Amino acid sequence: MANIYITTPIYYTNDVPHIGHAYTTVAADVLARFYRFRGDTVFFLTGSDEHGQKIARKAEEMGKTPKEYVDSLVVVFKDLWEKLGISNDHFIRTTDEIHYATCQAFFTKVLAKGDIYKSRYAGLYCTGCESFKDESELVEGKCPDHNKAPEWMEEEDYFFKWSNYQQALEQLFQDKPLFVLPKSRFNETVSFLGQGIKDIPISRTLISWGIPVPDDPDHVLYVWFDALINYLTGIGWNQPELSQRYQTFWEEGKVIHLMAKDILSKHALLWPAMLLSAGVPLPTTCFSHGYFTKDGMKISKSIGNVIDPFALVESYGVDAFRYFFFREFTFGEDGDYREERFESRYNSDLANDLGNLVSRVTVMAQKFLDGRVEQVESQKFAPVIEALWKTWDEDLQNFRFKECLEHIWKFITELNVCVDVEKPWALAKENKRDHLNEVLYTLIEGIRHIALMISPFMPDASKTIYSALGIETFPQSISMEERVFGGLQQPFTIKVQGSLFPKKEKT
Ligand code: MSP
Repeated sequence: MANIYITTPIYYTNDVPHIGHAYTTVAADVLARFYRFRGDTVFFLTGSDEHGQKIARKAEEMGKTPKEYVDSLVVVFKDLWEKLGISNDHFIRTTDEIHYATCQAFFTKVLAKGDIYKSRYAGLYCTGCESFKDESELVEGKCPDHNKAPEWMEEEDYFFKWSNYQQALEQLFQDKPLFVLPKSRFNETVSFLGQGIKDIPISRTLISWGIPVPDDPDHVLYVWFDALINYLTGIGWNQPELSQRYQTFWEEGKVIHLMAKDILSKHALLWPAMLLSAGVPLPTTCFSHGYFTKDGMKISKSIGNVIDPFALVESYGVDAFRYFFFREFTFGEDGDYREERFESRYNSDLANDLGNLVSRVTVMAQKFLDGRVEQVESQKFAPVIEALWKTWDEDLQNFRFKECLEHIWKFITELNVCVDVEKPWALAKENKRDHLNEVLYTLIEGIRHIALMISPFMPDASKTIYSALGIETFPQSISMEERVFGGLQQPFTIKVQGSLFPKKEKT
């Protein structure tokens, strides 16, 4: 079994969380739950990026100190993660004391390597991206991501000799074809690298909200240098009491960083160069998903089309939220969000296909067999289930969330067809009790496998289905042997539950 370290970006606490943050975090949670369910050991990290110019300015506007301001937002992020059933093992804040110490130790290592020098920066800076910008990156003089002209900035900074790592990075991309996924993003990164890497400032003096540079407190670390190191702080690098965790997950495990395309180059090009400089092994994969628009338009506060994840969870429930985004959009590609699609998927896939299947099968088992269905030797779906578990594994290991759900739903359709063809109500009427029992056992066993397979996506629904089937406990993990069709044994007594996904009337 493997050790897997999964991370989300740490989000800026300059505002409340939005749909993009929720999307990446749920994706990471699906993976974390998937790997745990296979029996792997997982460490799942998310957190908040609390320094930098953007936050310092916003706090000032709000009449608060930066720390007061970020404290007020961190609780909102944590609240959303709780509402979304996020099972992170740790929540890191870049204002954590330990993170200061880790960043300073890391800086010291890079300095000792000879990769840091002082120089003057005179150029452009986009506060929205917290990034130094080249004229060539602008569209009509503006940052394309923030639609704002960057500011001119001049100051004496510490620079990181990023350019020293041009060759090493080229080698990395030759040797590790899975370092960036999906493939299209890998190719983009390689072509970006082909344009040549330039050194970059890693400290700031015009702002003071940040981690002081060791022995030179007039400088604070550039927010991205500080932020990327969170992945090491969170796993215990340079912390003797956590050395086992660091070794297990970072040195001997598989490290998966998730993010969207906006910040891929920081993860795929800057971060490995920093790690190489500090002598720390590299992560396994940076997976970049796409960006959402809404009704064909960029999502932005100024346009007023922000999608509020709290409101969506409130109206549709956590499981529907976690289902919709991964069934509707291919993970890795951009997606256009439309509320009516949410409603129609909710009604068709969840209320009709899944909810109705569970409800009619359990109701019939209750009504016709008093809820006591006998285990029988049933081979009907054995080959289908065997193949489905195989694709489930492959799909999720390869970040194919949409495909995984499509495969599960194909099986749900098969079970619904089985109900229609076998007509248990007619069997009951004709008093064909053995055949009726066999059909219902087969359906229940099929539903049990569905509950297991959807659990990384919809952990609550999975448990509710298990209770409806009268099975006491939902397993923490499921071995290869347990994936066999027909494994459901006595005793289980069907307990019909209320509707899993009550149908939504047109709003
Ligand atoms: N603080 C940095 C990340 C540092 S990680 C070492 C940052 N924060 S952020 O708050 O701007 O979050 C960016 C991330 O939020 C994206 O990479 C993505 O994961 C998610 N999303 C933000 N907007 C999004 C969309 N419109 N669509 C999809 N995901 C997006 O950058």
